[in-house]
Amino acid sequence: MRNYLSINDIDSLPDWVATARDLKKNPRQFDSLGRGKTIGLLFFNNSLRTRLSTQKAAMNLGMEVMVMNFGNEGWALEYGDGTIMDQGTSEHIKEAAQVVSQYCDIIAIRAFAGLKDREKDEAELVLNGFKKYASVPIVNMESSVGHPLQALADAITLSENEIDKKSKVVLSWAPHPKALPHAVANSFVKMMQLQDADFVITHPEGYELNPEITKGVRIEYDQNKALENADFVYVKNWCSYSDYGEILHQDGNWMMTKEKLGHAKFMHCLPVRRNVVVKDAVLDSEQSLVIEQANNRTYAAQVVLKKLLEN
Ligand code: CP
Repeated sequence: MRNYLSINDIDSLPDWVATARDLKKNPRQFDSLGRGKTIGLLFFNNSLRTRLSTQKAAMNLGMEVMVMNFGNEGWALEYGDGTIMDQGTSEHIKEAAQVVSQYCDIIAIRAFAGLKDREKDEAELVLNGFKKYASVPIVNMESSVGHPLQALADAITLSENEIDKKSKVVLSWAPHPKALPHAVANSFVKMMQLQDADFVITHPEGYELNPEITKGVRIEYDQNKALENADFVYVKNWCSYSDYGEILHQDGNWMMTKEKLGHAKFMHCLPVRRNVVVKDAVLDSEQSLVIEQANNRTYAAQVVLKKLLEN
């Protein structure tokens, strides 16, 4: 594996999950693997979990870590070929990626969708720019269209909670006051396509995800019907994909409650807005897996970094 950019870079999800679960038992068992190596974490957007868990994973492997809030501390980047840079951008991605490659053995990047221009977001200018011009491996810490470290952590959490082929997993849209990207939902769908389980997506009409990603997955517009006999319910907001970046409505009836959850386990990537996305009674119950999902972010990142270092 040269880079970890999407779920497609996972060659065997069961093997990766097993490795992560083994690392979790003894996180520092490979602490000489990264000795003398440096990872650079470049953030174009905010983070709590990704920033700290990726740093922790790198430290568990003996790596040095450099973190930069590129979005507000770096020079504004230019991405176009042949651009006359007489406007707001100060540095071209060609130099930036090559320069960071001199300091780092692995570069991890977070750059969210702008949610204004779908074509531009799907071009993944930051991630693909670094992939093209950097001379070291690139890790996606959430890009416009995917959050594969989160989805790998979710797979670890499902495994620990004994998902099997009889399990029913529901991805349920939730209301939110801000337009949020599709990245978490997209990667969760792609990860679930690698699982042998009954998987259903439920959302109001108009909130369909990219049909290329959901191809072959059951979509149920009736949330109550989708939730019948669910074992795991993953709740997440995303904005409209077809009416790109728009909030079509914020129907509070889609918020997850104890009654709707039934006996299922509750999952969310965090951060989460209490009593908008999900009721306190769910988050504070023993059915909630959110803290363990966040814990598993360390071991998801550690599997990825271990594989890149071994290469
Ligand atoms: N789930 C997740 O990526 O959290 P952060 O945005 O806090 O990193």
